[in-house]
Amino acid sequence: VNSNHKPFSQACLNNRDPILTQLKPLLEHCQSVLEIGSGTGQHAIHFAQNLPHLQWQTSDLPENHWGIQQWINDEGSANCLAPITIDANTPHWGHKKYDALFTANTLHIMPWDSVILFFKHLGSVLNTDGLLIIYGPFNYQGQYTSESNAHFDQWLKEASPTRGIRDIEAVNQLAEQNGLLWVDDLVMPANNFLQVYKKSS
Ligand SMILES: C[S@@+](CC[C@H](N)C(=O)[O-])C[C@H]1O[C@@H](n2cnc3c(N)ncnc32)[C@H](O)[C@@H]1O
Repeated sequence: VNSNHKPFSQACLNNRDPILTQLKPLLEHCQSVLEIGSGTGQHAIHFAQNLPHLQWQTSDLPENHWGIQQWINDEGSANCLAPITIDANTPHWGHKKYDALFTANTLHIMPWDSVILFFKHLGSVLNTDGLLIIYGPFNYQGQYTSESNAHFDQWLKEASPTRGIRDIEAVNQLAEQNGLLWVDDLVMPANNFLQVYKKSS
């Protein structure tokens, strides 16, 4: 195992099991999941291993593919598929449709304009009644949910002023504008949330 040379995220290791616990019932009847912004690939290999009834398609911008592929080579199960390029900004997300879309910690990294495009484009690859599941920190009624999230937001904006924790009301509005029904808002450890939407028929 070439683990010293792989990208590694401690947060992924910490949050993967609480997320998996929620994904299990949500994805029980799904056969295919597309992950946007797979990052290191650690979530993908863990979720694919533990959700053997479905195919987990990884994706990210091209610069992250090698790391995701390393994790798949070393620890991936056969149902964890090699990364494809999906950029929220571009409308070409491929011809395949999925039963669910999953993304973690991406909406605060993309500029808001890209978040708008993300919601605009994702419907083209999501089956009717398919789920959109988004993990990450959110603000509620313009307020941080914790002091640590306030610091995190400041740190994000210092790295790039286009980054930042999003307001859940604005995200919910984008979902609604793009034909997604609100399903659930689950409270997760470490001041994170899991947002669940469904593509309406
Ligand atoms: C903070 S990382 C999160 C990675 C992983 N999902 C996790 O939870 O550890 C943000 C990810 O969003 C991806 N990303 C940024 N802009 C994107 C875009 N326009 N389209 C798709 N992915 C994007 C980055 O490449 C990166 O992998």
